[in-house]
This record gives sequence, structure tokens and C-alpha cells, in this order.
Amino acid sequence: MVQAVASAPPRLTARGTTAAATVVVEDVRKSYNDVHALNGVSLQVPQGTVLGLLGPNGAGKTTLVRTLTTLLRPDSGRATVAGYDVVRDAEALRASIGLAGQAAAVDDYLTGLENLEMVGRLYHLPKGEARRRAVDLLERFELSDAGARRASTYSGGMRRRLDLAASLIAYPPVLFLDEPTTGLDPRSRVGMWEVIQGLVDDGTTVLLTTQYLEEADALADRITVIDHGAVIAEGTAAELKRQSAQSVLSVQVEHDADLPEARAILGRLGQQEPHVDEQERRVSVGTDGGSEVLASAVRDLDAAGVRIADLGLRQPTLDDVFLALTGHAAENGGSQDDDADGESARGGV
Ligand SMILES: Nc1ncnc2c1ncn2[C@@H]1O[C@H](COP(=O)(O)OP(=O)(O)OP(=O)(O)O)[C@@H](O)[C@H]1O
Ligand SMILES: [Mg+2]
Repeated sequence: MVQAVASAPPRLTARGTTAAATVVVEDVRKSYNDVHALNGVSLQVPQGTVLGLLGPNGAGKTTLVRTLTTLLRPDSGRATVAGYDVVRDAEALRASIGLAGQAAAVDDYLTGLENLEMVGRLYHLPKGEARRRAVDLLERFELSDAGARRASTYSGGMRRRLDLAASLIAYPPVLFLDEPTTGLDPRSRVGMWEVIQGLVDDGTTVLLTTQYLEEADALADRITVIDHGAVIAEGTAAELKRQSAQSVLSVQVEHDADLPEARAILGRLGQQEPHVDEQERRVSVGTDGGSEVLASAVRDLDAAGVRIADLGLRQPTLDDVFLALTGHAAENGGSQDDDADGESARGGV
């Protein structure tokens, strides 16, 4: 597993305390012609904490990250990072941040080592220091063996690690990670989480976007859910889960043809509109009832002649919360590297 980078600035406050926020966003709006990508977003990230920005495709996550890293100018509203205004103090701001974008900004023609050295030089590190830092980061991200190879030969996971390493070259106290683990296999994903957790333990403030609810659950101190450019919920993972129903009644039927009947029955038993997953032949609904609901479900399904493959009552997950909030399930899997303009810039450049 890759190791945490130990060289971030010392931690100044304990996680979760109410220290001055490092990232402050107030009513930020941004449109691309007639597309309102950000419709008045406000949020804060306290120093030394992780904010998970959660939202479906097109929610505005990348637009917000690009605005906060000065790659885009907001139409209105105000945002500061490490005390620097994203518009007025853009240059100073860029020196305080690292950015690992949705599409890894790696130069294929350079080796891993050269990529890191180049970014170090863009941050005005002296040549020797850029080299030392690059070698150190390659080692910490388990890329030493590949350091002399062109990046074009790297796997997706290696490119992500190299990109994250590059974002750390100038010891940034604030880190923006746009879908840092999209497209990684589960093992690499957990490795990346360990790296990010290590950075946070050393005092780095992190804003990370994700479509993976388990990622937000694992890493984020607080979660902000956005959809259609607006904040629709905010809280810790536990708080968000409490906002949804107490439990989820879920039934898997043996035959596709029984799905409408199962949906109707669960609709009568639950407190929300049931969700149907046709592929899984599963119907789920939030409920505040207990085991008596389970008994009713068995009785009603049986009476209707529906054959049950699986039936249960479980604690709500963040997925359920997301579904209840946005009306659609979170997308899990699939690469999101389809940004037309990619992420070709990073802070300090
Ligand atoms: N350069 C652009 N020109 C026009 N519209 C854009 C541009 N970039 C983004 N948009 C639109 O703005 C909205 C927000 O896009 P954004 O990339 O911020 O979403 P996202 O939450 O990052 O999505 P994803 O999860 O797919 O990365 C979408 O409707 C998108 O189509
Ligand atoms: Mg995006």
C-alpha cells in the first residue's frame, strides 16, 4: 500500500474543532452560457478537516473545484481559500493549494520523475530541491521502480498516484481532489484513501469530490450534497443517514414480472416512494416501522403470490440518503474522465 506523505505542515488544530474555516464559499454562481452550473453555493471547510462534496454527474462539483482553484472565475458570490480571495488574490492562492483533477494531469512524454520535477520547477522550487522532493514523493507513492519510465506506460492507478504526488510537491496546506479514485480498482482505492487520510492527519485541509458514497463515508468529516448546482444537504455521514427513514425495507423477487406488485405492496408499507432496481429485481422503501413491517411484507407478498428471493430490514446507507435527496441513485463505477477541457492546470503554475 502507498504510504502517507509525512511532510505536510504540522497540524494546528484538532480535527473537527471550530477553527477558522480554510475554505469559505458564499453564494457562488457560475453559468456556462445558459447552463447554470452553480446556483448560489455556500459552504465552509474548517482547517485540518475533509469536506466530501457529493453529487451526481453534472451536479457542479468540478465547476466548484475549478472556481476555488482559480481556473474559473465565479459570476457572482465570494470565495476564499486560506484567506485568499479566489478572484482578487488568485496568484497567492495558487501557491497555497494542490489540485488533483478529475483527469490526471500527467505528461505522457515525460517519466514519472520528470513529471514531478517539472511541477516542482513550476512552483519555483530550486532544481536540487525539486529533484529531492520528486524522489521522495515517488517513494511514498510506491512509484520509485517506475520513476524512470515514461508516464505513457503507467496504469490508471499509477497515473492517479503520480497526479496526486504532483499536487503535493509544494507542501500545500489545502488540497482539492476531484474524484480522486474514480476508475481505480477497490484495492487501489483503499490505498488512495490511506494516503489522503495520512495527509489529513498531518494537518492538510481537503475538499474532495466524489460519486462514491462509501468514499465520503470513509474520509469526510462533513459531507455537502449538491445537485443541479445547489446544496441540498449538509452534515456528517451519521447526520445525513439520520435524516432519511429509520430503516429500509428491501425485497428481491424471483421473477421480473412480480416487480410491479412488489412495488405496490412496499409502497403501502413504507413512508416514501419505493425505489425499484430492475437489474437486481429489488424494491426498497424507507420505513419507520420495525419487525411488524417485515411481517406485513411477508404476508402481503405471499397473499399476492409473489415469490421472494430475499427480504430484509436494514439500516439506511448513504446511498439511501442520496436516493431520497436526489431521486436518483449514486453512480458507482465507470470513468468520468469525459471533461471536454480536462484538468490541465494546477495551482502555483
Ligand atoms: N465548459 C463547459 N461548457 C458548458 N457547460 C459546461 C462546461 N463545463 C461544465 N458544464 C455543465 O455544467 C454543469 C456542471 O458540470 P460539472 O462538470 O461541474 O459537474 P460535475 O458535478 O463535476 O459532474 P461529473 O460528476 O460528471 O464530473 C453540467 O451541466 C455540465 O454539462
Ligand atoms: Mg466533475
